[in-house]
Formats: sequence, structure tokens, C-alpha cells
Amino acid sequence: MTVNVAILGFGTVGSGVAEVLTKNHTHIDEKVHNPVCLKYILDVRDFPDSPFGDKIVHDFSVIENDPEVNIVVETIGGAKIAREFTERALKAGKSVVTSNKELVATCGYDLLSLAKEHGVSYLFEASVGGGIPIIRPLSRCLAANEIQEICGILNGTTNYILTRMIKAGLSFEAALKEAQQNGYAEKDPTADIEGEDACRKICILGALAFGRHIYPDQVPTEGITKVTLADVAYADACGRKIKLLGRAIRQPDGRVCAYVAPHLVSGEDPLSGVEDVFNAITVRGDAVGDVMFYGRGAGKLPTASAVVADVMDAARHIKSMKYMAWGPGGDDVVAPTDGLESPWYVRA
Ligand code: HSE
Repeated sequence: MTVNVAILGFGTVGSGVAEVLTKNHTHIDEKVHNPVCLKYILDVRDFPDSPFGDKIVHDFSVIENDPEVNIVVETIGGAKIAREFTERALKAGKSVVTSNKELVATCGYDLLSLAKEHGVSYLFEASVGGGIPIIRPLSRCLAANEIQEICGILNGTTNYILTRMIKAGLSFEAALKEAQQNGYAEKDPTADIEGEDACRKICILGALAFGRHIYPDQVPTEGITKVTLADVAYADACGRKIKLLGRAIRQPDGRVCAYVAPHLVSGEDPLSGVEDVFNAITVRGDAVGDVMFYGRGAGKLPTASAVVADVMDAARHIKSMKYMAWGPGGDDVVAPTDGLESPWYVRA
């Protein structure tokens, strides 16, 4: 049976997904045990010079109403149209794969419930850590553990900016410009530099680890816009590096403390050596102890790598869906007690 895929949005990630699906189709088909074909790409623009130009459609209902489409890849971003198309695709019996952390962080519980109701999958490995496998390891391989803490460098753009400030003495603005030129930053870099992107990602990881939806507005968030070269020099003099960390920590009473803020990280902490666009996530489980995940956290092909893996997973399970799930959100998410502004958080 041919598995047909439609991509929504032909931007950086969407075009990377088309490229990986096409370039690696031989081994993808072998591993899925069925041909996986890219049938449509939805975009408002035409791409006459692209090898995928003949797949472009402008009307989502073409995809929604085509019974041959099994899997929809949503790489539109944002939480409005992306949500509408995701809901329509799930209701039409199509599995949805996404890299859209904003949507998963704000509506993940509802969309996972909708997918379950319609017997299809909603998969989002690429929503956290770009190409780093973290969603499945956390929800499956570490499932036996009571997770105690998740702590990570979750945003490639800000890690790139901090690295360039630390190593090349670049100003914040110059380093941001480089990150944008390299295609790491979001369309509006505010989400990166103000910590919102990292916040969405710690919400997703926290939901998987602690079994309840964590909304971004429950998580105190500070980005890196106030970090200066003088701060960088001060950290260096203390043998530390400034890193933007997202943390979700199980409290003794079962509540979850989650926040995002710049930290002074010790030179001996493995997170201090994570540079450029790389992300790293440490997970502490009561049985496994500490494990760490590391790799390219942003960029076209690393993100496409995770999206296509989800497409393959959805394709393998078209007749026996597997569900990831968490419970609804509540008021059991707490802020750290020692404030966000000053002094800097120190990760021992
Ligand atoms: N803008 C994001 C980052 C992209 O820099 O990490 C990947 O989520």
C-alpha cells in the first residue's frame, strides 16, 4: 500500500522534509515496508523553479478531501491556521506530524485527544531539539522512571548568539544577525531571544515527563536580551558560561516547577560545552540517573530528519496507531521561589 504524504508550508522545514523524503526514499520505503510518496505541498506561493513545483496546491481542502493522503506534515508554524488545518486533517482520518512547538505547547492535550478519537497519530518529535531524539526517548525509553528533572539548552539561536558573544566578542545584535542569516532563528526572532521558544519546548518536555499539560503562560520566562558582553566577561572570570536553560523539576509535593532563564553554568557541567546551534537536554530519572541528549537543535535538515522519522513511524502504524498522551493542565505548575531577575541563576 502506498503511503501518501502532504506537506503544509514550503518554508525552511517543509522544503527540508521534501528533500529528505525524496533523497532517501529507497531506504525509507524499505524500512516502512511500503512506498512513501510526497503527493502535495500546500503553500500560498508557487515554486516554478523547484523540483517539487508540480506538487504545489493552494487549497487545503484538496488534501483534506483526498482519501489517498494518509499523513499530513504541518510545518506552517504559529497556532491559528496550523491549528485549524491540523484539526481538519485529524478529523479526516489523517495522521499529522509537526515541528510546530507553539501549537503542541498551547494545544497538545486537545490535539492528542482529537487524534485518539479519530484513530490516528499526532507526532511531534521535531518540536523539541530539532534533530535530537528526545520526545520518543522521554515518553517510551524512560517511561519506567519517575522523572525528577529536565534541564536543557533548548534554543539553537540563543545558544549560537551566546557562543558568538563569548568566543568572538560579537555584540548581541551582530550575533543575532548571523543566526538569522544561517536560518536558525524563527521568522520573528522575538520568540527566540525572549525565551518563548525555549518556554514552549520545556512545556512539551514537562508534559511528557510529568503527565499533565503545562501552558506557556504558567512558566516564568526570561530570555537573553539583557545579557551584555560585560556579563559574559564576568561569567568567564568566575569560570562559568552564560547559558539559557529551560528547567522542569518535580517538587516533593508532586507539583512541577518550570521556568526559563539565563544561568551561570559551571565549566565542569557538560552543558557549558554545548556551543553554537547545538542543543542538549539532561533528564534525571529515579531509576536511570542522569542521561543527556545532544545534537543540532535547529536548521533545515536536522529538523527534517526528525519530521521524516515521525512520518515513517506514522506510516508503519497506519493500521495500529500508537498514542502519546498526557492529561489536562491544572494549577499545579509553580514558579521558582528565588525570583527571575537577579542574581543570575547558578547551575551548580
Ligand atoms: N528557532 C529555533 C531555535 C528553531 O533556534 O532553536 C528550532 O526550534
